[in-house]
Amino acid sequence: MRDAQAPITFYRKDYTAPNHRIKSTDLIFTLNPSRTKVESRLQFESWGETNPDNLPLELDGEDLELEKVLLNGKQLTSESYTQTASGLTIHNPGREGLLELTVYIQPDKNTRLEGLYVSNGNFFTQCEAQGFRRITYFPDRPDVLSQFTVTLIADKTTHPVSLSNGNLIEEKSLDDGLHQTRWEDPFPKPAYLFALVAGRFVCQEETIQKGDGKPALLQVWVEPGNLDKTDFAMQSLKKSIDWDRSRFGLDLDLDRFMIVATADFNMGAMENKGLNIFNTRFVFANPELATDVDFENVESVVGHEYFHNWTGNRVTCRDWFQLSLKEGLTVFRDQEFSADMMAEGLDVKQAESARAAKRIDDVKVLRAAQFPEDAGPMAHPIRPDSYQEINNFYTVTVYEKGAEVIRMQHTLLGETLFQRGMKIYFDRHDGQAVTCEDFVAAMETALQESHPELDLKQFRHWYAQAGTPEVFASWKQADDRLELTLKQSCRPTPGQATKPAFHIPVKLGFVDVASGNDMPLVLESNAAALHGDVLDFTQASETFVFTGLSKPVVPSLLRGFSAPVILHTAHNTEDLIFLAGHDNDPFNRWDACQKVYGKAIVDIYKSAGDTGSANTQAAVQVVGSLLQDAQLSDGFLALALQLPGEGTLLEAFEGLVDPVAMHFARTTLRDLLACTYAAEFNALYAERNLNGQPYEYNAIAASQRALKNVALSYLLAAGSEEELAIAQAQYAQANNMTDRMAALSNLVHTSAEKPAELADFFERFKLEPLVVDKWFMLQATIPASNENADTLQIIRDLLKHPAFTLKNPNRARSVLAAFAMQNPSVFHNHGGEGYALWADLVIELNTINPQVAARMARGLDRWTKLVPLLQDKARVQLERIFNTDKLSPDVREVIGKALD
Ligand code: PHE
Ligand code: ZN
Repeated sequence: MRDAQAPITFYRKDYTAPNHRIKSTDLIFTLNPSRTKVESRLQFESWGETNPDNLPLELDGEDLELEKVLLNGKQLTSESYTQTASGLTIHNPGREGLLELTVYIQPDKNTRLEGLYVSNGNFFTQCEAQGFRRITYFPDRPDVLSQFTVTLIADKTTHPVSLSNGNLIEEKSLDDGLHQTRWEDPFPKPAYLFALVAGRFVCQEETIQKGDGKPALLQVWVEPGNLDKTDFAMQSLKKSIDWDRSRFGLDLDLDRFMIVATADFNMGAMENKGLNIFNTRFVFANPELATDVDFENVESVVGHEYFHNWTGNRVTCRDWFQLSLKEGLTVFRDQEFSADMMAEGLDVKQAESARAAKRIDDVKVLRAAQFPEDAGPMAHPIRPDSYQEINNFYTVTVYEKGAEVIRMQHTLLGETLFQRGMKIYFDRHDGQAVTCEDFVAAMETALQESHPELDLKQFRHWYAQAGTPEVFASWKQADDRLELTLKQSCRPTPGQATKPAFHIPVKLGFVDVASGNDMPLVLESNAAALHGDVLDFTQASETFVFTGLSKPVVPSLLRGFSAPVILHTAHNTEDLIFLAGHDNDPFNRWDACQKVYGKAIVDIYKSAGDTGSANTQAAVQVVGSLLQDAQLSDGFLALALQLPGEGTLLEAFEGLVDPVAMHFARTTLRDLLACTYAAEFNALYAERNLNGQPYEYNAIAASQRALKNVALSYLLAAGSEEELAIAQAQYAQANNMTDRMAALSNLVHTSAEKPAELADFFERFKLEPLVVDKWFMLQATIPASNENADTLQIIRDLLKHPAFTLKNPNRARSVLAAFAMQNPSVFHNHGGEGYALWADLVIELNTINPQVAARMARGLDRWTKLVPLLQDKARVQLERIFNTDKLSPDVREVIGKALD
């Protein structure tokens, strides 16, 4: 590290069990925005029978005003405890007893949105990971599970609704305009799953029947005026409950399950037991205000939080290094849920295509965000070995790569054995706080019940080793044999110079060039390595000999993206064109298109704009064939016609890169395709245009709209007046946000002048914060290729707009994240003004909300991959942030690692 303010680093290897458990926790909140009283009664006992009698009771606490400490009913003198800025230690509490505390906190001063805070006059809590310590003194660690009873006392008129975890056991009026509710959570839980909400709310509710026939009350709570946006979230919740029961055999274990939405939230949502708290972004959805993608996200996040009830809450994490135990697994579950929902009711072929589309979306995120993380200064294994600030480890690696690691186990075991492994996991660990190792061990038991010769020993490296493995594939076909050689390596990551080989499941097929059919897979050498169509690849280098292949084939490797690796193949352009047209695996078919486009863009980049390369011609050819293929589903075609994103292109580029030039290279290919196929895109647009028909959110309709809007973006890229008029008409006539937003963003990003539609959009939706976020975001992402917009100046003006504030995380992200993470051609402008503006905002946000600031501070993670001119400008700003006064540990960790 670089500076005097030495940060504290926490290590996984240092884990020790606590001295005491807290059997029960009784809390009384007297809620007041400026001064809330928190009284607690903690029934504690020694953790282990062999523990000595005199171990201190250790409690975490931050920013608390301590009024009273009683042990077994007696007021403690100040020598019998030690109070510091980070906690309270009770000396000699004995093996068991009752500790009673009274503290005061100031929710309305809490701009960090961790602990108890006020949003629009209402109270909310956020306790994961370490927010409970900002509410009262407590062993704020996930391995301390306690049974909670909570009493909420609040003003009857300003805070008529008050909720906490579990069941409502009492409700009554008190004197002085107060009222009280009492809640009991039947399941012991760690403090990070505690929640309370109080304020003015209305709810949509429904009673359902659980698997055991008993009723459960479902509620979605929102601020008044928003009930018309809750139908879809409620439907999603019911679908989640049904799906978890039918696919995983897991039922709702509570009589009451509540979702509450708040506009002020650091993350997406939180799985507090029985009382999920959501960012409004992932609850609100109706056709006028939400796009198809928003609908999709609501369904998936509602599912995600609900699925945590088992994977996270019933079985939780021993320590925060194990975060992926719950997050990777729960993301895997929500991905499967979404895929199943999208495929629901479709015929086999359509269903396969719908599932593939979901898989493609997930892999796009992985490549655009996780691969860069794994190659940058914050790279960490899905089970990190150390951290300075745990909030910085809610990452795409822990979540999305974590889900890939679960998915690989699913691929290796198959659905039946995987579900058997889940059952073993719950049988062993229900009610416990466990480790990633415990999960793998359960899967390994399931595997060995039917395959005693197999194990997951080498597979465990995926938990321990950071970095994206690279796989190099080459082959020779002669006589009727094909020799496939796979090599793997993984670049060094912080603290890990060399790494043993990974166990990589490679799903594959050999596509017959003549018929386009898959040939049977017959492995002659090490035949035990092949399970169905999945090859176990476990060595640094391995050659597999397949037979029975007398006719020429093209190998299709890593089908369905069967492992989170970077695959380099010996495919030539002709092979890729063939796979783009004929691969029987839709994921790989899409991926072949992406590879062709990527090569073309790199050629254009390297030649400073020349479009004459063979790869560029191949890209034109691929798009031509896609546009002619009548068999393709709309969803697939929409994905296959889109060029790789700029983030993906920049990360995949070998060598130092200039994001501005890459943007222009990509735009050049897009414009070439747009002009070449103007007639086809026009026809496609017209065919898929449902204008006037009522909007419905479902997979088929959504993919039709997606395809239409991809066609629209090509139409505008070709850029004549007529096409502009099409977008203007679509904007004006849209009966849903998907079409309105697509039209507007094309107009704003490519149009000659500030379009009138932009002002219209604000006027129409200025009372809807989530839509106003879209309005900000749209402008912060105007690319450099729009010569008529000075985006940096537009952003500076947006920051002064009356509706802008850094205090609301969604609003802050709508400008700052949009600009620094989704607009490379402006952010990386050669003058360095983009970086300077970013640094100003990170510094300002650092004191308001360190957790969100630290996310935004990741904007220059990959600065050492930039061309030298930009590296120099980046370093100046990184150092400026690093040397700021009162830098939070959150931001300091991120920037410190970037500079290391
Ligand atoms: N545990 C939450 C989820 O994955 C994310 C979260 C983390 C929310 C920390 C708030 C704070 O669903
Ligand atoms: Zn989660």
